[in-house]
Amino acid sequence: MQTSSSRLETRAVHGGTAGLRASGSHVPPIDLSTTFPLPDVENGGLAYEELAGGADLGEDRSAVYQRLWQPGAARFEEALAGLEGTSGAVSFASGMAALTAVLIAVVQSGRPHVVAVRPLYGGTDHVLDSGMLGTRVTWAEADAVGEAIRPDTGLVVVETPANPSLELLDLRQLARQAGDVPVLVDNTFATPVLQRPVEHGATLVLHSATKYLGGHGDVLGGVVAADADWVGRLRRVRALTGAVLHPLGSYLLHRGLRTLPIRVRAQQETAGVIAAGLEGRPEIARVRYPGLPGQDPAGLIPRQLAGPGSIVSLELAGGEAAAIRFIESCRLITHAVSLGGVDTLVQHPTSLTHRPVAGDAKPDAGLVRLSIGLEHVDDLLDDLFGALDAAGSERPVALSRAR
Ligand SMILES: Cc1ncc(COP(=O)(O)O)c(C=O)c1O
Repeated sequence: MQTSSSRLETRAVHGGTAGLRASGSHVPPIDLSTTFPLPDVENGGLAYEELAGGADLGEDRSAVYQRLWQPGAARFEEALAGLEGTSGAVSFASGMAALTAVLIAVVQSGRPHVVAVRPLYGGTDHVLDSGMLGTRVTWAEADAVGEAIRPDTGLVVVETPANPSLELLDLRQLARQAGDVPVLVDNTFATPVLQRPVEHGATLVLHSATKYLGGHGDVLGGVVAADADWVGRLRRVRALTGAVLHPLGSYLLHRGLRTLPIRVRAQQETAGVIAAGLEGRPEIARVRYPGLPGQDPAGLIPRQLAGPGSIVSLELAGGEAAAIRFIESCRLITHAVSLGGVDTLVQHPTSLTHRPVAGDAKPDAGLVRLSIGLEHVDDLLDDLFGALDAAGSERPVALSRAR
C-alpha cells in the first residue's frame, strides 16, 4: 500500500486506488452510471444539496448524479492531488473548462480583476483578454506583478515553462509579489514530475490533462489541484455549470498518471539531445529550450524545476516562410496541435495555438514548436535535419493570414 511518504513514482502507480483490493478489482472499474440509487427521500435530498454545494462524498452517501460526483473522476483527482502535493483536485471536461471554473469562482468572490503574465497558452490569453467571463485583466511583466495588483484583484495567472517561448518564471518571487492574492500556475508543460508549484507558493495548479497526464492523445480533460477551500468552490462551479470529465476520460487520465514519471523523463532525455543537436544549424536563428546554456539565467533548474521538459521551440532564420517549409517537410513528425503525447508533434503557434493572441503579444512568425515524444532520437533527428534542409531552400509557400 502507498503512504503519504511514498516516492513520486510509487504514488503515480498506486494513487487513487484505495479500496480497490477490498472490492476484488485490480484496475479501477469504469462506472458509466449517470444516476445513483438513493437510500430514502430525505437522505437523497441531503446528499444532493451537499454535493451541489461542493462537499466531498460523505460516508455511505449516494453519489446522486454523475454531474455532481463520479467515482472514476474522484480516483483520478486523488491521484493527481497526491502528485502535486495538494489536499485535493477537481477534474473538468478540458483544460479550458478548468480555467473557466476558476475564473467564475474568482468573479463570484467579488474580486474580478486578474493580473496575468504573458506568454500564456493562446486560449487562456484569449479568454482573459476578451473578458467574456466577467474578469478584467491587466497584463504585467513578471517583475511588475506586485504593482499591477489592486484591491479588487482576485487572481494572478502565470504559465512556466511558458507556451511557446519556454521562458521560466520564478514562482517564489511571483508569490511574494502577489501577497494574499491566489496565484494560478498552468503546470501543463512541466507536470508534477518536474515542478510542483504549491511547494513554491502557488495556490492553484492547472493542467490541460489532455497533454502529458493522458499522454497518448486520446483523451480531453482538465484538472485543478488546490487546497480544500478551493476544491469545494470549484466543485460547486462544476456541479452547476456541468463541464465534467466523462468516466472513460477519467479512467484514461488515471491510467496515464501511472506511466507519467517514466514518460516525462524519457521524452525529456530525447528533447535534450535534439535541442543540442539542432543548435548551430544555419537554418535556425535560435533553439529555445530551458536546458541549453544561458536559457535559465535565474538558475530555476533544479531549484524549482527538476528538468527542462520535452518541448523545444525553434526560431527559423528564414522567418515564417521557412517555418512553413519546415513543418510541411516533416515526414515522421506529425503536424498537429496539442503536445505531451507519445508521438512527436510540430505546429506553428502564430497560425494555430496563438492565433487569437493580440498582435503585439503574438509569438514570432518564424517560430515552430515541437513536442518531443518517445520515438528513437536518431529517427527524429533524421526527420528534423531533412525538414531543415527543405526550410533552407527557396521553395515559395503561401504565408499565414494570422499576423
Ligand atoms: C499550456 C496549456 N494550457 C491549457 C490548455 C487548454 O487545454 P485544453 O485544450 O485541454 O482545453 C492548453 C491546450 O493546448 C495548453 O497547451
